[in-house]
Amino acid sequence: MSSSKRYTITAALPYTNGPIHIGHLAGVYVPADIYARFLRLKGNDVAYICGSDEHGVAIPMRAKKEGVSPQEIIDKYHTIIKTSFEDFGISFDNYSRTSNTIHHETASEFFKKMYADGEFIEEVSEQLYDTEADQFLADRFVIGTCPKCGFEESYGDQCENCGTSHNATDLINPKSAITGNVPVLKQTKHWFLPLDKHETFLREWILEGHKNDWKANVLGQVKSWIDDGLRPRAVTRDLDWGIPVPVEGADGKVLYVWFDAPIGYISSTKEWAAREGKNWEDYWKKEDTKLVHFIGKDNIVFHCIIFPSMLKAHGDYILPENVPANEFLNLEGNKLSTSKNWAVWLHEYLEEFPGQQDVLRYTLTANAPENKDNDFTWKDFQAKNNNELVAIFGNFINRVAVLTNKYYDGVVPTPVEFTELDEDILEQLRQFPDIIEKSIQRYRFREASQEFMNVARLGNKYLADEEPWKLIKTDEERVKTIMYVALQISSALAILAEPFLPFTSNKLKGILKTDENLGWNDVAEKEVLLAEGHKIQEGKPELLFTKVEDKTIEAQIQKLEDTKKANEAANKEVEPQKDTIEFDDFTKMDIRIGTILEAEKVAKTKKLLKLKVDVGIDVRTIVSGIAKSFSPEDVIGQQVTVLCNLAPRKIRGIESQGMILMTDATDGSLAFVEPQQKVQNGGQVC
Ligand code: MF3
Ligand code: ZN
Repeated sequence: MSSSKRYTITAALPYTNGPIHIGHLAGVYVPADIYARFLRLKGNDVAYICGSDEHGVAIPMRAKKEGVSPQEIIDKYHTIIKTSFEDFGISFDNYSRTSNTIHHETASEFFKKMYADGEFIEEVSEQLYDTEADQFLADRFVIGTCPKCGFEESYGDQCENCGTSHNATDLINPKSAITGNVPVLKQTKHWFLPLDKHETFLREWILEGHKNDWKANVLGQVKSWIDDGLRPRAVTRDLDWGIPVPVEGADGKVLYVWFDAPIGYISSTKEWAAREGKNWEDYWKKEDTKLVHFIGKDNIVFHCIIFPSMLKAHGDYILPENVPANEFLNLEGNKLSTSKNWAVWLHEYLEEFPGQQDVLRYTLTANAPENKDNDFTWKDFQAKNNNELVAIFGNFINRVAVLTNKYYDGVVPTPVEFTELDEDILEQLRQFPDIIEKSIQRYRFREASQEFMNVARLGNKYLADEEPWKLIKTDEERVKTIMYVALQISSALAILAEPFLPFTSNKLKGILKTDENLGWNDVAEKEVLLAEGHKIQEGKPELLFTKVEDKTIEAQIQKLEDTKKANEAANKEVEPQKDTIEFDDFTKMDIRIGTILEAEKVAKTKKLLKLKVDVGIDVRTIVSGIAKSFSPEDVIGQQVTVLCNLAPRKIRGIESQGMILMTDATDGSLAFVEPQQKVQNGGQVC
């Protein structure tokens, strides 16, 4: 057994300005969780750390949009996020939040130490200012053209298109995100982290020291930033939401969110250590601790350049051993977007697919965006579930449990004689922990999950080839050995599944009633995982997975279609105003409220309904182009607004005596213009 090590594993602190979606999970939380669970199973000392990122401009902006206070926003999303992570089985050792006192203190101390050591440049400079909003503009408060790639909607601190991080004053054609005004320059004092001073250290530490073990996408981004020339970065802001700058003469200023948030990893570790009776400093200051940051690619500069420069300048801390950043996950061909609601939201998934956490985990891992952006599709989700989880893993386990109960009353049989094939299968099985481990150690979780599935494939094929259900009639002795081997494979699967499919692993341990204390290495090192004579659970075994039906997938795809339509409708340009008319022109129109009494489709048309409408004056026939949005039975009894004195027209041979007034709904369908409460038919609109 390899010796135990100490690990601090961090997962990017999510902003509390929206819930968690599959992009966050695939990029950060699922791989980090596999890693943490795996290391624990190997007997390591692991602190898996996360929390909510509650400062920064994103929060007050969201609050403004929802018309509530920033505090309400962070409370709301912190709760949703924390609960959904728990229900999904993300095994954080601690989930904190940056609004906690311990974090405010930790971040302030960190700043003060760097300040006292002269690690900042204090400088009055000209910054963008919105005179109407009476506010300095930084980060997401200002939008303009990216100086690097020309993207026209870059934020002040980072371009979402090319990932470059810059200063707000670098933007071309900056505009205030609050008022849309062109900002002016106004003098203000800030503290800058002189990144240029740390260039040599960064080059040597990352580009030399880690050139062989960090991911190519990470090294590439780091190199490009360093080669572009590092410049001092302001680490304070003129804002009223955040941690106050803890030095004299800094009234009305707070720490830049990207200064305080990564320190949140440290605060969260402190919180955990205090609760668990550990020493937090072991996890952040001891050279033999391995610090690993799991992040998405838009966070690379902050975790590879800025935070390490802070840690180095501060002096007491270890540096990350790796930063295995992932690329992005798309959804059905389009970029995930919180504001456009283009996402599969974790809290919704958990409600709509109860008990199926592992299916999503598996799909996201098997298709993880490790080296390039990848696409999540519901069809693929269904295929991964039905063709792999159900057909291979689930099927194998079900056969083993059913047959063991049927032939041996659930007792593991005594093997009689191992054939060459049996020996070979058991030997292959013993190789797997090492094969999977190698992939995990290289942060190749996708590959690791496939190797894991190969264990189930091995078992499934073994049973399918050996067909014990046929042999039982002719060679009972042989069947004992086959079932014994199959039970060893099942037991190995229960252990090896833990990092990838934790809920399933638990279920399987329940079915097999395995020894809780078996670890990763036991699969290779123990001669026997499930001893002869051991009794597994009686009766019909619980199914590990169930088929995902077409209609389930169709409903999810429909949900996305609806989102698309709603977005299109919301983005539709408002028609310009028509030419002015006189009051007399208006009074010429006879507009009244009526009720639809009868409705039928006009033959051979898709759009038209023939309606009988009581407009108070009479009951008349009106042909209306609403059949795409309404079926005849939907509209009977509906109150409508009718232009009554429109000259009658023949439509498809039917005389239409008036026009029903309609408008476009936000989902792209038609909507009736109806009175806010029931009115008498014939009531005039004026
Ligand atoms: N909130 C940031 C984001 O969602 C990540 C912060 S990571 C930390 O992009 F290191 F700053 F904590
Ligand atoms: Zn750009």
